[in-house]
Amino acid sequence: MASTHGAEVLVASNRGPVSYEVLPDGSLNARRGGGGLVSGLSAIGPDAGAVWVCAALSEADREAARRFEGGRRLPAEATGGQQVRMLDIDAEVFSDAYNGIANSVLWFVHHMLYQTPLEPVFDAEFRRRWDSYVAYNRAFAEALAEEAAEGAAVLVQDYHLTLVPGMLRDFRPDVRIGHFSHTPWAPVEYFRMLPDDVAEQVLRGMLGADRLGFLTQRWADAFAGCCEALVGGLGGTRVGVHALGADAEFLRERADRSDVKERMLALREEIGVAPDGGPRKTIVRVDRTELSKNIVRGLLAYRQLLADHPEWRERVVHVAFAYPSRQDLAVYREYTDEVQRLAQEINEEYGTPTWRPVALHVKDDFARSLAAYRIADVALVNPIRDGMNLVAKEVPVVSDSGCALVLSREAGAYAELGDDALVVNPYDVVGTAEALHRALGMPGAERAERTKRLAAAATALPPTRWFLDQLEQLEHLPG
Ligand code: G6P
Repeated sequence: MASTHGAEVLVASNRGPVSYEVLPDGSLNARRGGGGLVSGLSAIGPDAGAVWVCAALSEADREAARRFEGGRRLPAEATGGQQVRMLDIDAEVFSDAYNGIANSVLWFVHHMLYQTPLEPVFDAEFRRRWDSYVAYNRAFAEALAEEAAEGAAVLVQDYHLTLVPGMLRDFRPDVRIGHFSHTPWAPVEYFRMLPDDVAEQVLRGMLGADRLGFLTQRWADAFAGCCEALVGGLGGTRVGVHALGADAEFLRERADRSDVKERMLALREEIGVAPDGGPRKTIVRVDRTELSKNIVRGLLAYRQLLADHPEWRERVVHVAFAYPSRQDLAVYREYTDEVQRLAQEINEEYGTPTWRPVALHVKDDFARSLAAYRIADVALVNPIRDGMNLVAKEVPVVSDSGCALVLSREAGAYAELGDDALVVNPYDVVGTAEALHRALGMPGAERAERTKRLAAAATALPPTRWFLDQLEQLEHLPG
C-alpha cells in the first residue's frame, strides 16, 4: 500500500483544520476548526508540507469530501493552503464512534465523569458502537497507509484514534508512528471499568506507536500504570511529555486588532461602573460548554462569594463565555441548560436595576474572548480534570494590566502555573469562593508580577516547537 509520492509527515485527528457549511447558493464555505488540539496543530501551517488526515464531521463536510476529488486530498484553496484528506466515513459509523464511544465513553473515563452508581453500563449497544469505533479507526489507518511515503513520520492525535497506531503498524511496518493524548489519562482503578478486552485493545492499539506523548508527567505515569497492570508494561514504546504552550506571537497580534478593541468597549459598557463611579472588577471564564470544565460549580462559587462577601455586590461582574459543544449528546444539552438556569437564578437573586452580576454569553466569538482576556481582573479556570487548559495559558499573555488566575489543581496547566496561580480544589465551592475573594483583592503590583511570570511559563513551549520536538524525537529514535 506504500505510496511512492506520499507525504513525509502526516498528522491524523478526528477534527481537522477546516470544517464546511453549505451556503444558500449551494457553495461550500470553509471555517477554521476549534478546540485545543486544532489550535495547537494549526501552528504547523501549510509550509511544513504535512498532510493532515481528518474525519468529515457533518453532512457539509461529507459533501466537501465527496465533491473534491472523491474523498482524496482537498484542493489547497479550499483549506487555507493546508494539505487535507477528509475521510467520508459513513454517517452512522462516524456518530457511533465519535459520539457513542470517543465522547461518551473514553472522554468520560479519562475525565472521570461517570456518576458510578448508575453509569457506565457496557451493554450490547456499547458493543455495537465499539465495532464502529474499530471501523472508524481502520478507515484512518488505511488512509494513512495510502498517503505515507516510505519511512514517513505519522503523528496520530487523541482518544478518538487509539487503535490507529497498532493497525498502521500492521499495514506499514516501515513508518514511524507517534501518538499524542490531549486529555488526561485515567488512573488504572478508573480505566479498568472498561470491559477487559476493550481496555486491552486501547492500550495495545496505542502501544503500536514508537512513541507516545502526553501533556504532563501525571498523565504519562497514569498511562504507564495502566499498561503495567493490564498488559504487562510498555513493551518497546517510548513515552514523552510535551506541555503544549500558548502561541504568544499569534495571540498578541490577534488581540491588538480593531475587532477585539471594539469588543472591549462593548464589554466595558455591559459590565458598567461601581457605585463609587470606578470600573467594576471582572471575573472571566472562557470554555466550551463541557462537563469537565466545571462551569456549574464555578457559578456556585461566585454565588457563594456574593453571599459571604457582600462588599463585592455591585462591584464585580462574572463574565462567563460558555460556547456550545457536542450538542448531539443529551447530557451536554442538559448541562448547557443548567449553566443558563443557574446564571439566571444568580441574576434574579442578587441583581439590581443597575447591576447584572453574571454576563453569560453562549455564542462562540474568539475576538470577544480575547477582549475579555485583556480586561479581566480575575480568570477562573476550575476544571474537574483537564489535559492542559489553554485558557489558563492564554490569559496572562494578552492581559492588559495583570490578571489573577484562579486555577484548578486538576488541570494539566497546574504543573507549570501552580506557583503563581491561586490554586483550588474544583469540587470545593467554598474554597473556590475564597480564592475568588483573594484574587479580587490582590494588589495591582502583585497581580502584574504574577502575570508576568505566568506568561513566561505559559509560552515556554509554543505550538510550533511542541510539534517539531515530537517530530524530531520520532525521527531520531533508533530504528
Ligand atoms: C478536546 C479534545 C480535542 C477536541 C476538542 C474539541 O480538546 O482533546 O480532540 O477536538 O476537545 O472537541 P470536539 O468534540 O468539538 O472536537
